[in-house]
Order: sequence, then C-alpha cells, then structure tokens
Amino acid sequence: MPRILGVSGSLRRGSFNTSLLHAAIELAPAGTTIDVGSIAEFPLYNADVEAAGVPSPVKVMKDQLAAADGLLIATPEYNNSIPGVAKNAIDWLSRPPSDVPKLFRNKKVAIMGATPGQGGTILSQAAWLPILATLGTSPWFGGRLRISNAAAVFDSDGKLVDEKIREQLRKFVEGFAAYCARQT
Ligand code: FNR
Repeated sequence: MPRILGVSGSLRRGSFNTSLLHAAIELAPAGTTIDVGSIAEFPLYNADVEAAGVPSPVKVMKDQLAAADGLLIATPEYNNSIPGVAKNAIDWLSRPPSDVPKLFRNKKVAIMGATPGQGGTILSQAAWLPILATLGTSPWFGGRLRISNAAAVFDSDGKLVDEKIREQLRKFVEGFAAYCARQT
C-alpha cells in the first residue's frame, strides 16, 4: 500500500493549501498513508550554509521523501508562479546533487492547489513542471485539482465543506494513490 509524503507550499496559519492537504489525508483510500512534511523551518538556501552541512529540517524531509512512494504538493500561487518558500524548499531538497537520483528520479509526484482567486493555481501548477522535469520525477497527469474561490470551499476551521470539490479531491487522491502503488 502506498506511502505518500504531503507538503504544503504555504507557511500561513489557516492556509487553504495546508487545509487541502489535510482534506486529502481524510479522503485518502484505505491503506494509503499520507505523512505531512513541513518546510516551515527550512532556512533560506545559501551555499555557505550548505557547506557547513545540510540543515536538519531539510535532512528530515529528505529522509521522508526517500521513504515515500510519492510526493503530493499542495501549492499556492504567488504572482502567477510558485511561492518563494516552496521553491526554496525544493532547492534545498535537491542538495547535494548526488542525492537527486535517490530522492527524485522516477518519484511519483502530484500537484494540487487552492486560491481565493479565480485561476485555481493553474499557473503555479504549470510552473512546477520544469522543476519536476529537471529532477527526473514522474509526475502524475491522471487528474487535476485546481480550487478557486477557496474562501467559500473551506470553512473557518479549514474543513473542506464543498461536497462537489470533496468528491473531486477523493477521486484525485484515489487516482494518485493507485499510481503510487504501481511497481514502476
Ligand atoms: C497572492 N495570491 C495570488 N493568488 C492567485 O491566484 N494568483 C496569484 O498570482 C497570486 N499572487 C499572490 C502574490 C502574493 C505575494 C501573495 C501573498 C498572494 C493570493 C494567494 O492565492 C492567497 O494568499 C492564498 O491564500 C495563498 O495560499 P494559502 O496560504 O492560503 O495556502
């Protein structure tokens, strides 16, 4: 049964994307485990810091990633692209380059996202693709989840209350979990 690492690209308390990740955990099919990884303690990438040793919050997530069959990213969209904190996190995770094959090569990855705006994070999701390609991952394209008007989709406790979108998310997670369970 697949083990998935879920990461939100937002540090915000009350983040719609973190709420989306928690809803994915709730709706995951039986037997699928989604662990939550945190990028909150990642320092800003600096080669001088790296020279002194990869920081422990980065090491923790690298271990989580190595143990996972798949990576599920809940991404906000900032200025039509990836938030800086998320890009910073993936840059750290790709260091040193000698670890990239073991962590990322053929790693199954799905992207989803939520925004209070109208665009459903489509441009941010697209902006992830060159990153996923350069790391040699195997992105899952069997479903899409782009949530617009997030303030009406989650309640004030962060619960996903829109039934139609809950169903979309359930199918999305089911599809990705099945992809992660495949041998190749
Ligand atoms: C935004 N936001 C935003 N939304 C969007 O749909 N497209 C965009 O290009 C942007 N650009 C943008 C830039 C910056 C600097 C900020 C701070 C915000 C709004 C964004 O979607 C909103 O803040 C979400 O709530 C962020 O996701 P979380 O934190 O709720 O997960």
